[in-house]
Amino acid sequence: MKITTKINIMTSAWILCVLVAVNAIVFLSFMRITVNMEDTDLYQKADSIIKEINLGDSSEEIKEHLTPYLSMHSFIRIIQPDAKITHEVTNAEEMAEKVKPHFVGKKQSERKIISEKHREEQIVIVRVPIHSNGQNVGTLEIGEKLSGLEAAKDVLLSILASCTILGALFAMLGGRWLSNLIMRPISNMINTMEDIEQSGIPKKIVIQHETRDELQKMAVTFNRMIGRLEENLEKQKQFISDASHELKTPLTVIKSFADHLLRRGIQNEADALDAIETIHSEATRIQKMTERFLDLAATESAAVLEKKQLDLVELCRNIIKQLQSAYKREIYLHFATPSITVTADELKLKQAIIILIDNAIKYSTDKIDVYLNVNELNTVIKVKDYGIGIPEYEIQNIFERFYRVDKARSRETGGTGLGLAIAKNIMKQHHGEVKISSTEGVGTEAELFLPKS
Ligand SMILES: Nc1ncnc2c1ncn2[C@@H]1O[C@H](COP(=O)(O)OP(=O)(O)OP(=O)(O)O)[C@@H](O)[C@H]1O
Ligand SMILES: [Mg+2]
Repeated sequence: MKITTKINIMTSAWILCVLVAVNAIVFLSFMRITVNMEDTDLYQKADSIIKEINLGDSSEEIKEHLTPYLSMHSFIRIIQPDAKITHEVTNAEEMAEKVKPHFVGKKQSERKIISEKHREEQIVIVRVPIHSNGQNVGTLEIGEKLSGLEAAKDVLLSILASCTILGALFAMLGGRWLSNLIMRPISNMINTMEDIEQSGIPKKIVIQHETRDELQKMAVTFNRMIGRLEENLEKQKQFISDASHELKTPLTVIKSFADHLLRRGIQNEADALDAIETIHSEATRIQKMTERFLDLAATESAAVLEKKQLDLVELCRNIIKQLQSAYKREIYLHFATPSITVTADELKLKQAIIILIDNAIKYSTDKIDVYLNVNELNTVIKVKDYGIGIPEYEIQNIFERFYRVDKARSRETGGTGLGLAIAKNIMKQHHGEVKISSTEGVGTEAELFLPKS
């Protein structure tokens, strides 16, 4: 069932219940108030009669007194203590016969339903004791048909019933209009989602009115999500185009040297060796590049980190030992305390540190200093070199993928321009950051900030 239909049925049913309840209260209150008013009228009438009549008068005289008090369908009687009627006047004999006389000690009223000519009639009877010399000598009984009330009751019932039907009808129409109004943005969203599903192209929802409600919030959130998706898709496209571009150069070199070898053979040994060497070095470059691509992909997905406690001094000492023997460079480790414990993914942190030291090795020739420090918030790993440095205006760019300050030089050093982007991702996964400060021709300081908590 459509949600609009559901809302419609539910609100209509609820409004119908409320209408029926309210109408029932109105009807019952009306009946109660009217009957009470009738009681009060009759009691007043009885009091006036009792004041006027004298039981010692002749029967004719008493009846003369009583007759003016008769209304449309009523009877007035005086009953003696043995429940016998002594005097009675009536203009509704049939009705009077059906009401048994009662002698009472105190005022009382009664409602009685009698059937008369195939229809039920409600009558109200009041009984008031008549006192003489402090003694209860009789009861004045007045009975009246509530014919006015019956008619009013019927009219009221029909008015209330038609109001209920009309109310329910309006509730249904209003409910339909309201649910359509509420559901419109959701329907828009569903249509947009279906479009996206069919075309595979992210698309935003058009927000027509500033309603500032939950539905607008939902649409805005949806649009934000689509925005992110578009951004990511754009990044992916850019990455594929950059990566293919990067791979194209070494592949072209390999192909041309391989062609050369095919054409000329290996008669000229020096020439052939040169070609093979170039092919080997370009293939190595491609291999390194693809490794970097995989590293980047691994750090860009929100992969779960395998965090554990580790000794940073020990970790850096091992890294430096490996790099020192591989590159034959002077790398010094400086630390304030002999052991610094950090919580991190060991392999990833190691990769980020290697990326910084690798840059220092590539872009400098002097010694390299690695400092380990702990401040209030972070553990800081600083790699300092005294090499070519980076122009100030380039510092903001070097974290971008494939960005290299000096492309020609990078070819010599084998740089792919992905190292810092990977290091940045790794630190982001650890809720930390990478900062670089540098002076051209003087040297570079690259720092990794690892938050303590
Ligand atoms: N210590 C440094 N001294 C001078 N320039 C640097 C230094 N570190 C980075 N750079 C500049 O920033 C650029 C980007 O560095 P990044 O580490 O991302 O890439 P790369 O070193 O070129 O290649 P990769 O690290 O992927 O092998 C480098 O090409 C270089 O121009
Ligand atoms: Mg690098």
